[in-house]
Amino acid sequence: MSLARAFADRVHARAPGKINVSLDVGPRKDDGYHDLVSVFLAVSLYEDVVVSHSDGFSARITGDIDVAGVPVDETNLAVRAARLVVEEAGWNGGVHLDIHKRVPVAGGMGGGSADAAAALVAVDDLLHAGLGAPRLHRLAARLGADVPFALHGGAAVGVGRGDELTPALTGGRFDWALVSHPQGLSTPAVYREFDRLREGDDAAACGSTAAGDTAVLQALRAGDPRALAAAVFNGLQPAALSLRPDLGAVLVDGVERGALAGIVSGSGPTLAFLAGGESDARALAASLVTAGHDARHVHGPVHGAHIVSRAG
Ligand code: C5P
Repeated sequence: MSLARAFADRVHARAPGKINVSLDVGPRKDDGYHDLVSVFLAVSLYEDVVVSHSDGFSARITGDIDVAGVPVDETNLAVRAARLVVEEAGWNGGVHLDIHKRVPVAGGMGGGSADAAAALVAVDDLLHAGLGAPRLHRLAARLGADVPFALHGGAAVGVGRGDELTPALTGGRFDWALVSHPQGLSTPAVYREFDRLREGDDAAACGSTAAGDTAVLQALRAGDPRALAAAVFNGLQPAALSLRPDLGAVLVDGVERGALAGIVSGSGPTLAFLAGGESDARALAASLVTAGHDARHVHGPVHGAHIVSRAG
């Protein structure tokens, strides 16, 4: 163990947002969750969390995006993550978290889950708890369905609630233009709308494609954006579009501006447009900005939650 590590009293960790490149949603279960099969891709839009020793638990939230409405109390997922690690480590004190957000809030990209994953690894490091990946993964799964993937990163197939992960091979990087929206969507509300559509006349619109996941995995392995564009699928998309019909026109606009495919990311409303390569994605994002959208270029896969630096 290095001297710097032994005396660090501030630890900075980072975790990525995600896109579900495929998302097959099954029926609602008694616990309120839906069984799903999803292929996750971690992308280069990061949440930064700096943790330091404190008497109690507190958080300060800043961001490149609008962070109004993100709770700073004990309901904040990263604060809950910090508390879990402290309890697991048998530590007496508390932790202060400085959270810097870039992933759209309530955007369907797992930003809150990334905060929690970064907090898990940062507090584990700050306390020298040495919990190790399996225990951190178990804590992550207790916090939320998307937290294990934010810890894991890269590309992975998630089953169950989405938290039982198997790594997926990728043969290259995939470049995207993301369009975010000032007004978020509540994930539980989108799942409720999914249930309503499935029970009603629109059942066919919510059909799942188990074969689609195979095609997505093959395209990822081949590093082939055109094959991936033909296979991307989001079973929650009809529900998100039902709640936010305005997104439909933006999806069409993105494809007209050169995207290979456009999908709602997770429960939305962020839209993910796949491009043929880095320069195409940059040009697409610039074109979407010209059209008045809040767009940026990202790429994936990228690493999951990791330590950036230690200080003090
Ligand atoms: O686990 P997390 O708190 O992120 O989930 C938020 C909500 O999304 C759940 O309360 C549930 O309504 C919905 N959800 C679901 N099935 C999943 C994952 C999430 O119904 N597999």
